[in-house]
Amino acid sequence: MPEHQTLVEEAQIALDAAIMYYQGRPVGTIAARDRDALALNYNQCFVRDFVSSALVFLITDRAEVVRNFLELTLTLQSRERRMDCFKPGLGLIPASFKVELNDGKETLIADFGDQAIARVTPIDSSLWWIILLRTYVKATGDIALAHREDFQRGMRLILRLCLETQFDMYPTLLVPEGSFMIDRRMGVYGYPLEIQSLFYATLRSAQELLVSETGKTRKAVTERLGNLAFHMRSYYWLDLERLNEIYRYKGEEFGLQAINKFNVYTTSIPAWFINWLPDTGGYFAGNVGPGLMDFRFFALGNLMAVCASLATTAQSLDILTLIENRWDDLVGQMPMKICFPALEDRDWELLTGFDPKNTPWSYHNGGNWPVLLWILVAAALKVGKTRLVENALALVEERLAKDEYPEYYDGKIGRLIGKEARRYQTWSIAAFLLSKQLIAHPEYLSLISFDEDNYAIACEI
Ligand code: GLC
Repeated sequence: MPEHQTLVEEAQIALDAAIMYYQGRPVGTIAARDRDALALNYNQCFVRDFVSSALVFLITDRAEVVRNFLELTLTLQSRERRMDCFKPGLGLIPASFKVELNDGKETLIADFGDQAIARVTPIDSSLWWIILLRTYVKATGDIALAHREDFQRGMRLILRLCLETQFDMYPTLLVPEGSFMIDRRMGVYGYPLEIQSLFYATLRSAQELLVSETGKTRKAVTERLGNLAFHMRSYYWLDLERLNEIYRYKGEEFGLQAINKFNVYTTSIPAWFINWLPDTGGYFAGNVGPGLMDFRFFALGNLMAVCASLATTAQSLDILTLIENRWDDLVGQMPMKICFPALEDRDWELLTGFDPKNTPWSYHNGGNWPVLLWILVAAALKVGKTRLVENALALVEERLAKDEYPEYYDGKIGRLIGKEARRYQTWSIAAFLLSKQLIAHPEYLSLISFDEDNYAIACEI
């Protein structure tokens, strides 16, 4: 880095270099620009990866990049109703896209997971797309874009995918393995928290963006929000009080009055959880389903729950208090751990399928991801924890640029640059820039946060 250049200037240059163009217009950012590593699909624009870049563009007067991105990805949305299992479901937004040059002609190629490693379905893309549209509208005031018929239709298709009755009867979304940021096998199929938090934020965004005040979709959105909020706040919540309840659960309860609704056996409560849960603070479990409570802490789902107000005000404060109380485990030397604790031994073998990229305390399996800084900062600012924000940022300023913006870090406290981490990973760069902006201008928080709703607050179970 030239001596006169600040960390922010350097990161800004790196972010600009990641911008992707189509027909001469900026339309997104590529995932990474690591000259030494195999590109694989890191030369594509991922919807989830673009979110932090988009926020930076919106804040720094380059809203047109976000508008172009939204328009272009809308044209890529799956538009045909087919009974063909090899085609994406009607309404799905791709995980990523790239621009290919053939005989001097640019073509757009979208990946709906059909090319991705392990063929994972990107359920989060469609959710992020609606959330980002709401962010764009908030930043620019350009509600006309969201009200355009093609945008309304795009939203309705996504909402239909989420809201139509399917096989199960839960308010949460039932999804396959690896359908979000953790896009590998990690025991995160069923009802993973991240998808539920994004789903809640999507429904809240749709309430603001749908034109019709009375339509069928709006009614379904409102109903689902209430049910989802109650379900998450009640059944996913974990703190000492809840642990005491779960610890005394009885099994095999039949009928509507069952207290232990999902038949979670108390012997399945892991010892690490009982020892690790602090006296103060709490968080949402990673997954809840039939006979299942995944006690792992997942950062993005919890922090999104705070920003979106899926967590009540008290729960939000508790989540950040937990992070403070377990700082070494959850933040360590680089904010922050994607999930805690790592799957080890037989759990790792069975749940990851012996995945050599997801060995304990690496990558998705307990690695530390700088991209999570921005949402940690946003959530902490929302609950007024400014000291936490300063501490997290200091860790990033010390290492991130020096290490050339790695994708992730390894080890229990995130001391090592990730074994297979890309450098110049765009969302690591953007997360740093965005965090600086949020700290300097907390009013930007409203771009990604929602006020408290008035659905059932009480967690009576
Ligand atoms: C990895 C991550 C995924 C991300 C992609 C591009 O596959 O698991 O979340 O979108 O890289 O950065």
